[in-house]
Amino acid sequence: MPVRHVLAIDQGTTSTRAIVFDDTGRPVASAQKELPQIFPKSGWVEHDPEEIWSATVEVCRGALAKAKLDPKALAGIGITNQRETTIVWDRATGKPIHNAIVWQDRRTADRCTVLKNDGHEKLFTDRTGLLLDPYFSGTKIAWILDHVAGARAAAEKGALAAGTIECFLLWRLTGGKVHASDATNASRSLLLDIRKGTWDAELMKILGVPASMLPKVVDCSGELGVADAKILGAAVPILGMAGDQQAATVGQACIKPGMVKATYGTGCFALLNTGSIAVHSRHRLLTTIAYQLDGRRTYALEGSIFIAGAAVQWLRDGLKLIEKSSDVEKVAAAARDGHGVYMVPAFVGLGAPHWDPEARAAILGLTRDSGPGEIAAATLDSVCYQTRDLLEAMRGDGAQIDELRVDGGMVVNDPLMQRLADTVGTPVERPEVTETTALGAAFLAGLAAGLWPSLEALSETWVLDRAFKPAEDSAARDRRYAGWKDAVRRVRSG
Ligand code: G3P
Repeated sequence: MPVRHVLAIDQGTTSTRAIVFDDTGRPVASAQKELPQIFPKSGWVEHDPEEIWSATVEVCRGALAKAKLDPKALAGIGITNQRETTIVWDRATGKPIHNAIVWQDRRTADRCTVLKNDGHEKLFTDRTGLLLDPYFSGTKIAWILDHVAGARAAAEKGALAAGTIECFLLWRLTGGKVHASDATNASRSLLLDIRKGTWDAELMKILGVPASMLPKVVDCSGELGVADAKILGAAVPILGMAGDQQAATVGQACIKPGMVKATYGTGCFALLNTGSIAVHSRHRLLTTIAYQLDGRRTYALEGSIFIAGAAVQWLRDGLKLIEKSSDVEKVAAAARDGHGVYMVPAFVGLGAPHWDPEARAAILGLTRDSGPGEIAAATLDSVCYQTRDLLEAMRGDGAQIDELRVDGGMVVNDPLMQRLADTVGTPVERPEVTETTALGAAFLAGLAAGLWPSLEALSETWVLDRAFKPAEDSAARDRRYAGWKDAVRRVRSG
């Protein structure tokens, strides 16, 4: 039997990537393109949808060329994406009517405050598992309708389509034939009843989003559409789709209740599989759909941190403390032991478990002998402390966490992974393939293509690269963490 391949598209916040995987789940070839960030105002973040689309086509072609693979030989395509980032486009022309509003964008914070003051938060939380925060896509759709001339009237007439990035890419790849969103992405909108898996008319009314704009909600694996032959040189079926954090959960084989993964990209997102039960968090975690297969939903508790790798980018681009991101490890190694410096990276407010869109970043505890080493170390530590915040909240919700599976760009840094294990007090496990987001999308497509019979079969392909065991004594760990909690208290807005 010839080897079969799957093409995974990973459209992330800062880059667009395509990776060809073989039928053992190994990456064969990849291509990547940086995505320019647009910051029109303080707290606003946008992307150009046409740039997203052209980069997607370019990296798909690039990865196939590197793999020397005829697109006809592809078993299928899997799509994964930065979640919540919202596009509204004209159904007739396929042209977006506004830039994509990125998940980090805070422009709808006031709208969320009004909704909260009007007493709506409980209803939204009960039905959607989310909180009223500008992070989610629903208020972003409404903002576009309220700020682009004529948009609301056009939407009421059914002339506009709304969607997150996977939905927009599916639309474009199929030449406008399919307008669908998978259940994981749909669950990030404040509009989906996550227990029923359907759009909720009452929530749509409160947010002011007409039903005619919304995509069909579909499974994460199955025949989702066919990419137009003009795009890749052959008509290739699109067989998998999931938000990037949910795809990473699948790629990390966290398919049993109790398993948890954390992905360190722009932000950090920890997902705890809770099986068929949509657990309501008492500690301000989100309840979200982990995946939907054959109409059956598996749920997760999610802790979302908005800034992880992006804090290192800020050291590089904002503070110009380092030349390239990987230099942070070397600079941080020079920090004085017990320096007491804390960096709270609330550049776009704070996510879980604080949900404070108005908080802003700060570096605290500086003394005359603090320097680049201490600031770099405090920045990396902030990633560890924020992860501990999430794991503490999960434990508070009843989870027993025996190990944490990690992935994403930052996890190649061994000292950081050791510090993470020391900070959270739980073994940290890094798999051999750390491209778990793209791998998860490939798995979902491969399931539908018959490359793998089941999620259980897929989980056998997960191979441990290295486990980092906590080495610090628990009193020292807790002392450091108490300092972090104090620092967070000082940057909170209220
Ligand atoms: O919810 C936002 C998340 O999906 C973004 O992920 O990997 O682009 O930081 P990433």
